[in-house]
Amino acid sequence: MANAIEVENLVLEYGKNTALNGISFSVPEGTVLGVLGPNGAGKTTAVRILATLLKATSGSARVHGIDVGDNPNEVRNTIGLTGQFAAVDEYLTGYENLEMVGRLFGLKKAEAKTRADQLLARFDLEYARDRTAKQYSGGMRRRLDIAASLIGRPKVVFLDEPTTGLDPRSRMAMWDFISDLVKDGTTILLTTQYLEEADRLADRIIVLDKGSIIAEGTADQLKAQVGGERLEFVLTDASQKDRALEILTPIGLDAPSYDAQTRRLGMPVSGGADDLTTALVALKEADIHVVDVGLRRPNLDDVFLTLTGRAAEDEQAVEEEK
Ligand SMILES: Nc1ncnc2c1ncn2[C@@H]1O[C@H](COP(=O)(O)OP(=O)(O)O)[C@@H](O)[C@H]1O
Ligand SMILES: [Mg+2]
Repeated sequence: MANAIEVENLVLEYGKNTALNGISFSVPEGTVLGVLGPNGAGKTTAVRILATLLKATSGSARVHGIDVGDNPNEVRNTIGLTGQFAAVDEYLTGYENLEMVGRLFGLKKAEAKTRADQLLARFDLEYARDRTAKQYSGGMRRRLDIAASLIGRPKVVFLDEPTTGLDPRSRMAMWDFISDLVKDGTTILLTTQYLEEADRLADRIIVLDKGSIIAEGTADQLKAQVGGERLEFVLTDASQKDRALEILTPIGLDAPSYDAQTRRLGMPVSGGADDLTTALVALKEADIHVVDVGLRRPNLDDVFLTLTGRAAEDEQAVEEEK
């Protein structure tokens, strides 16, 4: 499979601050690469270089074999860009925004209109077609932003933190839209701070920390490193331990562990909340009482803790502490 994106030894220095410290990766055509990292890791910097908005200090990047530094205009014709720098006009309606982008993209008037309506339908925004973008919610605006980036039917799309700040329902809706894009064969580079999001959408993940790649692999490989999902129960009565272990064993991926001191039972699972419900119902039927219950999913912090021995640093938080 040919690579849609190839990055070699990319370095970006802002004065004496190194935003990218020589990263290399490639993204095969039609696949999704998740770039996972906390604030300040260098995600947007990498995207901006690939999208030809920023020149690398050294190293090279190619999109469909075309060097972003040497031939930025050619690259721009094949990509769709969304995120922190997207240009949705607040005072135009959703429809007008898309029509305008279509015209800017060189579509004929009739074509731009048709395309605008197609994209509004595709992103469930038909009902808000004639409202100004100013009246859109955060989730609707992100969808409009992505719709605008797809006007030119790009083969490669960059999504820079598409769900940061969205409520859970809008986040799930966004995941569905992104999955549809993937089905069309679009190559996607998606940056995110959420392991769950990368897990859901990405074929491969690179973990970025302070401008360097500190891990890469599939979501399963990363999760295996950090230990996956776990169910935990604290028994009310320690004498019910054996019976509880017997009931829980078939639900877990592995035999449950038990800590006598805390009366805590824990086991790895793969079914999330469904497994939690199954386990609770089974325990209740057996009249086994618990004082505490929890479902733990590994997140970016767990990944960082495992990989670096320290928590993911939020650069903004660090700044604020100063
Ligand atoms: N315009 C800029 N001038 C100076 N430093 C910058 C600029 N933009 C980003 N940086 C720095 O580069 C690093 C990477 O930033 P960025 O790529 O925005 O990270 P992310 O998108 O992962 O949050 C950070 O240390 C950030 O402070
Ligand atoms: Mg960013």
